[in-house]
Amino acid sequence: MHVIITGAASGIGRGSALRLGRRMKVVVADRDLAGARRVAGEIEAAGGQALGVEVDVSNRASVGDMVANARKAFGPVDALFANAGINRRNPIDQISESDWDLMMNTHVKGVFLCCQSVLGEMVERGKGAIVNTSSDFAIMGVAGNAAYTSAKTAIYSLTKAIATEFTPKGIRVNAIGPGPIDTPLLASGRSAEQHVALRQKFSAALPLGRMGRPEDVAMTVDFLLSDRASYISGQLVHPNGGQLMW
Ligand SMILES: NC(=O)c1ccc[n+]([C@@H]2O[C@H](COP(=O)([O-])OP(=O)(O)OC[C@H]3O[C@@H](n4cnc5c(N)ncnc54)[C@H](O)[C@@H]3O)[C@@H](O)[C@H]2O)c1
Repeated sequence: MHVIITGAASGIGRGSALRLGRRMKVVVADRDLAGARRVAGEIEAAGGQALGVEVDVSNRASVGDMVANARKAFGPVDALFANAGINRRNPIDQISESDWDLMMNTHVKGVFLCCQSVLGEMVERGKGAIVNTSSDFAIMGVAGNAAYTSAKTAIYSLTKAIATEFTPKGIRVNAIGPGPIDTPLLASGRSAEQHVALRQKFSAALPLGRMGRPEDVAMTVDFLLSDRASYISGQLVHPNGGQLMW
């Protein structure tokens, strides 16, 4: 079995790569090639098989190269975790057009290109599983995050559209909506003090009383990509500490 994970050099992607590496061959894909190779090395040191590759998920040629390298190393792609992401926070009247485009291209176009690049082969084989990273923010109103939340809602919608078309062909497609997970993304664009204050705020407010860890999300991804989730498709599943209940 063989999975491609994007954004796998860090945070949720890395945690998922390490967990899935126990039972699958893993293509560790990231725009940070050194980081991707480091995580692939961690998987191999634990006895698994992995390949670190560079990808820009917003670029069709780069995604094509990633999938070609994956097939060359490990054969047909059984599973995809389309997870790469970034954030640029700003009040809506201050979001630049270039930041808006960056957010949409990384998240929405990135998920579109990655899914499109593996679906054809999955249809030929009549099987496959995909998880796309959305967010709790897909369905919450969140100040200062208009581009990010719009992109995450689009990923949820895209996931449902793909699931509607491809579940009848044997491919399960789901999205995850993590709550606040302690990764470098949460610190990006914030001062050290802001980051500490935010972590305290989240921990106090969450029903589970702590922020999430990449491993919490990795367990959800592992489940959704496994046969234990054989009757689940088109869903937004929330490893979120109870942040959002609906
Ligand atoms: N951390 C959270 O609280 C949280 C909550 C909900 C959703 N998410 C989502 O989870 C995903 C992973 O985030 P994380 O928290 O692990 O962040 P992270 O910053 O630790 O990891 C993100 C990874 O994506 C890579 N990446 C960014 N743009 C890329 C591109 N164009 N092509 C290839 N790789 C690229 C980065 O290099 C990085 O390694 C993102 O989609 C994020 O939006 C995070």
